[in-house]
Amino acid sequence: MVAKYAGSKLLDINWLVSLSPYEYSEFRSPFAGNEPLLWVIPTCVKRWINDINPLVYQYWIALRDDDSLEDRWVRHCKRADRSLTDAYYLFRSCCKRLITGNHHPVDLLFVSYLAVKQQWGMYRSHFASFSPALAASHSWRAVTPERIILAREIMQGVRITNWDYQKVVSAPGRNCWIYCDPPYDGAGRVYAYGFSALQRKDFARHMLRSRHRTLISLEDSALTVKQFVTHPHFDSVPQMYRSRRTQKINRQWYIANYSL
Ligand SMILES: C[S@@+](CC[C@H](N)C(=O)[O-])C[C@H]1O[C@@H](n2cnc3c(N)ncnc32)[C@H](O)[C@@H]1O
Repeated sequence: MVAKYAGSKLLDINWLVSLSPYEYSEFRSPFAGNEPLLWVIPTCVKRWINDINPLVYQYWIALRDDDSLEDRWVRHCKRADRSLTDAYYLFRSCCKRLITGNHHPVDLLFVSYLAVKQQWGMYRSHFASFSPALAASHSWRAVTPERIILAREIMQGVRITNWDYQKVVSAPGRNCWIYCDPPYDGAGRVYAYGFSALQRKDFARHMLRSRHRTLISLEDSALTVKQFVTHPHFDSVPQMYRSRRTQKINRQWYIANYSL
């Protein structure tokens, strides 16, 4: 929404919408990250986002409820614009607050924003030692801070939880559509909360039991093919995309328990 997140499906929005059911009255995202679908799902639809990472949860709560968010952001930007020394000082103090856990979500966005804008090399190394919180925050990149107000409007009425995905998938509901974007196999170092082999097995089991219409995105691997693509319960379509890091063309799968 306001920030960019590792593994973001922001560029796949149209594709995702094209794979959604024709009509639904509730939307759930159990692995929300920076859930970009919230930009396009009508606000009259009941919406529920969830992420196990407390930093992600705090960010969403602040975006929905904290009226001071925009002021804080503007104050930070004004100070950083005065001089490079001021910007650097601010950057360091935000980093410090992140490390002590005594931060505001704006600090998280601001560190990411300045690190990218100024290309300060300390970014990665500073973050590497701060685990698991920093492993998560290096996934963030604030790109469109001026959208904070719009994002807050869209966020009104959205339910936000900080649970394991299973509770969200299995909770009862009516005419519900769930989009699951779990950590891909091999993405262990990208997210503070990745999936182990056991969790992945459990995930496949849970998805088989889901009583709601569920769309899943997963990496192209032998495991995905075995657990989902060749399984008669699911319908799957491949999608090609270019990796921003390696510039290679990769394939990922979109899998649903309804007809795609
Ligand atoms: C691939 S990212 C989601 C990206 C998101 N679709 C976007 O566009 O920004 C996966 C997310 O799942 C979260 N996660 C990992 N394990 C989880 C679990 N057991 N329950 C809920 N969320 C989990 C991670 O914190 C991460 O934010």
